[in-house]
Amino acid sequence: MNDLFSFDDLLSRQILDAGHDKPARLAVIGHPVAHSSSPGMHQPALDALGIEARYIKVDVPPGHVAEAFSRMKALGFIGCNVTVPHKFEALAACDHVHEEARSLGAVNTIRFDENGLHGFNTDGPGFVRAVAEDFGFPLSSFSVVIAGAGGGAGQAIATQCALQGVPRLVLVNRSLDKLGPLTERLRALGPTTDVSAMSFEDAELDAACLGCDLIVNTTSVGLKPDDGSPLPGHCLRSGLCVYDTIYRPAVTPLLAASKLAGARTANGLSLLLHQGVLAFQHWFPQTDPLAVMRRALHHSSEGAG
Ligand code: ATR
Repeated sequence: MNDLFSFDDLLSRQILDAGHDKPARLAVIGHPVAHSSSPGMHQPALDALGIEARYIKVDVPPGHVAEAFSRMKALGFIGCNVTVPHKFEALAACDHVHEEARSLGAVNTIRFDENGLHGFNTDGPGFVRAVAEDFGFPLSSFSVVIAGAGGGAGQAIATQCALQGVPRLVLVNRSLDKLGPLTERLRALGPTTDVSAMSFEDAELDAACLGCDLIVNTTSVGLKPDDGSPLPGHCLRSGLCVYDTIYRPAVTPLLAASKLAGARTANGLSLLLHQGVLAFQHWFPQTDPLAVMRRALHHSSEGAG
């Protein structure tokens, strides 16, 4: 079944719904977006709850996000998810931005209603749930190193760490220049958090990793088959928790090296799941889609290999 549409397709409900029983009323927009796992977990939840709606993917070119939203609203959509690279453009297009999304500086969930466009961010809160579930301790209790803190995902997770008031936060990025303004912003957001920034070549990196309880990889290193680990093996040790936001492959070189060193590991599937559940609940409050979404996601990730 083809559930991938273009920006132009948003002009016509006939195009979106031809050959389908249920109308498209939810979507994920991105560029590219064909690879998105979101329909695979939202559609089973909609079906299980008996909601007459399809969840589709729409490829929207940069610069057209606000127009995509107004077309979806005109077609009677309930809401949508927003993925790379549109999370910043989405925030600017909202009529009402939820406080968490404002702090994170990005929007990944939209709800349409009679008062306009409401923007939320469920990536940060989803990460809080993922860490608690995977490692059994609240995020606020961890001293954290974020590898790739200058990227979109890294900035969101770093911001959530500051909001949670983690004791220590070390931002690591290949290009140091991306960390200056972020560091200042995080210090203001989380005055009790000790925030520092460094590159992967910094002599202090080993000590920073040894002094932390949780390492989070938000770089894209590990996605490609010939990638290595973004961090050297001697940064890893028994007792450490290592979270890789990548979930395909399920075991990245970083996670393999972490397991070998005796660290506890988790991949980005739990973040994908929990941000999805929280988004669904912004559209359908009082529902509990966790179990069905978890089942669907694990089923499809096993199939994807
Ligand atoms: P986003 O769109 O989320 O910003 P991205 O541009 O793919 O995603 O970058 C994600 C992160 O991966 C960034 O922190 C990036 O580092 P730079 O800010 O220096 O570009 C990091 N990254 C990508 N390739 C990398 C590599 N080979 N080594 C280290 N970090 C890398």
